[in-house]
Amino acid sequence: MAMQALFPTYVYTARLQSAGWRAFNARLLAECRQLREDDAAGRAWSAGRYPGGYTSYGSVARMHTVSPTFAALERKLRRHVQSYARALEYDLDGRELAMTDCWVNVMPRHVVHGLHLHPLSTISGTYYVRVPAGAPGLKLEDPRLANFMAAPPRRTDARRENQPWVVVPAEAGKLVLFESWLRHEVAPNPVAAERVSISFNYGWF
Ligand code: NI
Repeated sequence: MAMQALFPTYVYTARLQSAGWRAFNARLLAECRQLREDDAAGRAWSAGRYPGGYTSYGSVARMHTVSPTFAALERKLRRHVQSYARALEYDLDGRELAMTDCWVNVMPRHVVHGLHLHPLSTISGTYYVRVPAGAPGLKLEDPRLANFMAAPPRRTDARRENQPWVVVPAEAGKLVLFESWLRHEVAPNPVAAERVSISFNYGWF
């Protein structure tokens, strides 16, 4: 008898850098908060689509092109994206994965980010700037769920790779990468402190 696990979904997590991340995050956090102050269009965009929170997704979604600090973040992220692409065994036909979008997310208490994916992108991810104790992680959904038809539910004690949803914990100084077609969400933030993250897309076209 042989059992094979086929068609895996790879998710990459890592610390951005081994040392100095706290000072770097302090600079990022200050810029994220300053952006929220300055970005009236983004606050208006968020009011309808991200109630109670702030995101620059609809207003300033290419932060790596306007801020030297975010440009530095892109340079730090690049080697992680390249490692992930190697593990996925992508044939990029000589092209490079390049950051196309990079935006700020601020989630105060009770703010939620519903289930979604990132269209027109190849690799997506998030870098965590500030994660108060008890703030939610990133919930990932089995991409085959819509095809399961008459498949029974999984036991609650099933192995992690057999669960229909998995939560990757959010931790300041760490990043998570996934393929952009993978649906994900962030549950409501139950704590009184803000959860601050930077999300991004990489494309190869
Ligand atoms: Ni997302």
